[in-house]
Amino acid sequence: MQIIDGKKVAEQIKLEIAEEVKQMKEQGLKIPHLAAILVGHDGGSETYVAHKVKDCAEVGFKSTLVRFEDDVTETELLAAVQKLNNDSDVDGIIVQLPVPKHISEQKIIEAIDYRKDVDGFHPINVGRTVIGLPSYVSATPFGIVELLRRYKVETKGKNCVVIGRSNIVGRPMSILLSQKAQPGDCTVTVCHSATPDIASYTSKADIIIAALGKPGFLKASMVKEGAVIIDVGTTRVPAPETKSGFRLKGDVDYDEVAPKCSFITPVPGGVGPMTRVSLLQNTLLAAKKSFFK
Ligand code: GUN
Repeated sequence: MQIIDGKKVAEQIKLEIAEEVKQMKEQGLKIPHLAAILVGHDGGSETYVAHKVKDCAEVGFKSTLVRFEDDVTETELLAAVQKLNNDSDVDGIIVQLPVPKHISEQKIIEAIDYRKDVDGFHPINVGRTVIGLPSYVSATPFGIVELLRRYKVETKGKNCVVIGRSNIVGRPMSILLSQKAQPGDCTVTVCHSATPDIASYTSKADIIIAALGKPGFLKASMVKEGAVIIDVGTTRVPAPETKSGFRLKGDVDYDEVAPKCSFITPVPGGVGPMTRVSLLQNTLLAAKKSFFK
């Protein structure tokens, strides 16, 4: 059994990005610039955005954080997005989700210029991904593909079960792994909340992507000997002994499942760090105008 060390890979990728930024600077090119919009003071969102700003600084990117209170109107938020769309210094834009209920999340996503949509949430990027055109891919699936590639996990011809059909993880993951690509070329089954007997699918799978958000859901009895297990779960469970008062728990019962696997991602230290670094990779692609002029 091999543990897929997402933390180590993410650190390596950050070094690669930092080196590229250094060279861009030396060539007199503009440095990549990520702009993040944060609405309100949700603890989780505050932490995620703080990480994004810190990650940018670590690789030499510029970042801008635009903050609004919870009572911001949809019109004001749309105007802020528009301003960033029109700012030629800004390469990538993200609006941290969720936004308050009185604001349409979809409207905000669609207001972002798809050429700066480094979250890969805009329908143009999602659609381009589906038909195999160059596009921004949302951070978690992008990070998982990178892990499979760097660990040389054989995917061609394998049975892959994705548990979860969210727009930002399960759905794009299932599309990427079914594409004619390496990693890819899998036969993919998507299981979700209306799937009866998920174990009947997972027990036949060579690769399982657990992205349903139920801590400890995947048990050893549901997994084939030698399977590859990618755990996307990051549920916060109370842990009074820790400084933060919580710890992250994955969707996989790690202690039970790990001995049966060929590869497994731990939580924390597996997919999470890769999700963070994927945003940097997308921002670099945006700065280099890799997909769109
Ligand atoms: N909220 C939870 N995950 C994400 C993400 O990847 N991007 C944004 N913008 N908001 C999120």
